[in-house]
Amino acid sequence: MSQATIESILQEERLFQPPAEFSQAAHIKSLEEYQRIYAKSVAEPEVFWGELAEQELHWFQKWDKVRDWQPPFAQWFVGGKLNISYNCLDRHLTNGRRDKTALIWEGEPGDSRTFTYAELHQEVCQMANVLKKLGLEKGDRVGIYMPMIPEAAIAMLACVRIGAIHTVVFAGFSAEALKERLVDAQAKIVITADGGWRKDVIVPVKEQVNRALADNGVPSVQNVLVVKRTDQKVNMIPERDLWWHELRQDASTDCPAEPMDSEDTLFILYTSGTTGKPKGVVHTVGGYSLYSHITTKWIFDVKDSDILWCTADVGWITGHSYIIYGPLSNGATTVMYEGAPRSSNPGCFWDLIQKYRVTIFYTAPTAIRTFMKMGEELPKARDLSSLRLLGSVGEPINPTAWMWYYRVIGGKRCPVTDTWWQTETGGAMISPLPGAIPTKPGSATLPFPGIVADVVDLNGNPVGENQGGYLVIHNPWPGMLRNVYRNPDRYRSTYWEHISPKDGKYIYFTGDGARKDQDGYFWIMGRVDDVINVAGHRLGTMEVESALVSHQAVSEAAVVGRPEEIKGEEIVAFVTLEEGYFPSEELTKELKNHVVQEIGVIARPSAIRFTDALPKTRSGKIVRRVLRDLAAGKEVAGDLSTLEDRSVIEQLRSGT
Ligand code: PRX
Repeated sequence: MSQATIESILQEERLFQPPAEFSQAAHIKSLEEYQRIYAKSVAEPEVFWGELAEQELHWFQKWDKVRDWQPPFAQWFVGGKLNISYNCLDRHLTNGRRDKTALIWEGEPGDSRTFTYAELHQEVCQMANVLKKLGLEKGDRVGIYMPMIPEAAIAMLACVRIGAIHTVVFAGFSAEALKERLVDAQAKIVITADGGWRKDVIVPVKEQVNRALADNGVPSVQNVLVVKRTDQKVNMIPERDLWWHELRQDASTDCPAEPMDSEDTLFILYTSGTTGKPKGVVHTVGGYSLYSHITTKWIFDVKDSDILWCTADVGWITGHSYIIYGPLSNGATTVMYEGAPRSSNPGCFWDLIQKYRVTIFYTAPTAIRTFMKMGEELPKARDLSSLRLLGSVGEPINPTAWMWYYRVIGGKRCPVTDTWWQTETGGAMISPLPGAIPTKPGSATLPFPGIVADVVDLNGNPVGENQGGYLVIHNPWPGMLRNVYRNPDRYRSTYWEHISPKDGKYIYFTGDGARKDQDGYFWIMGRVDDVINVAGHRLGTMEVESALVSHQAVSEAAVVGRPEEIKGEEIVAFVTLEEGYFPSEELTKELKNHVVQEIGVIARPSAIRFTDALPKTRSGKIVRRVLRDLAAGKEVAGDLSTLEDRSVIEQLRSGT
């Protein structure tokens, strides 16, 4: 159990009311208003979502039906036609935001660029025309493997403008991981850069793409479009690889947005699961457009004057929804930062808030805990008075970190919204609405309107107040994933295996544990499956195990998460070796590097423990619970009678 979980299990009594001035100006102004909206959203979901879709988005053609729920497959705004790039750009050209700043970008070396809505629109049209010229058609897949530069946003918006399906792969993933995703998505084009700055070094993304595509490794890829960022010399493969700045010269700035069917696929984003390879989470145009838009509006209380900075990478769902689509759809100004806090500039986040007068700041608990450790001096030396709202995402936030964030960064003035959600949900699902819902440090509070969340036991029966159980969602919502790409069986078996005994209906299993307190507030306790969350990054234990056993020295591997103060969890791998190999420092190093090569730095195990055998049941299943206890240095608890050989535990404990 992580520190965050332990802390949040301790009864937390503090309650923070939304500041009165905040509530007065907020979109949702009081708890009563939230409750009224919530009650309507549940009683009449089709009316609720239909009205919002009509008010909040531009449609080329209205839908025939708001929701079509054939469990476990849902369709939203059936028959409607729209384009998310139109909603993010074109409509702002005629509603007074044409010359408003849409995007502020800051590079790690200190260079910066800004784009008005008109300028961003032009760039997106140009890239869309280039993609069309390369033969890209509606429905084709595009891999985006980019540093955090404006062209990453431009590439995403250009794809969706012409109906191409982007699959953004976080640039911290290795060539091997990139290849795996490009193969599954059958990408036709890859968009990348000659490099990008991160922590004072240039990340060689183009070289990784070359490696992923080497030896015709991804036969579907026809072209690679390369953005010049760092002026690094890169290896361009003739005919396949093309420079964006060259093709842009002749590209027209006029490219009408393709009217898309509401249920056409918008993008695929790969995420880790309990079994097998990462799965391609499929989101569709209509539902995602509305859900990312309305959650941004109500949870971040976005107004025209707001400057929103979400520190995630566009390679994750948080970047998709709250750097790009949500803020731009709302006509806000969004900030994008190329780099990360680093020893040469540990205060860079606070500098940026001061420089751009950021009003809404959204980051992860790991970052907050890291800053906490660095002390209050850095943020206190900057003017953070522009901030009016703070958000947290990606992992449980422990009350101590919450309080520090509230006090030191928010000056006790800014509501803190702890947003619980997943790649699969498209947008935040449980979160305070900052002008309406009182907050408790460590709790994500209450469900967003339209979201029916509950905590149940394995049979789907609700558990009692303050009792731990499985977090589930009862009804479909517009932003929900529609499928696992090319794998509907996995979609069913991962999320929809359970039927509620209450009403015989399907329930969506989130894979998280939670408890609900006497006020109906949700306290998320972390994953209950074989997924680990390292610094807010989601990893399947099986992925890391597969990476380990692909090394010739490894016979078997079992990977578990161990609580860690800053990152929430860290990876510990138990490994048995093939004959002829022996434990050594070098081998430990080699295996760690091997995992980095196979997956990426986020998956580097913190510890590798060699053993002669792993604890297994008689049927050969590894008993991870035992390993989790051992990794955390705890006494092994629970029933051990199913173990085939109990002496293994002694051996593991003594480290031999
Ligand atoms: O375990 C939960 C944790 O992150 C998981 C989803 O990871 P991913 O799909 O990568 O999306 C991350 C960003 C939305 C969840 O199953 N998680 C996310 N937000 C929170 C959280 N755990 C606790 N509190 C949160 N606010």
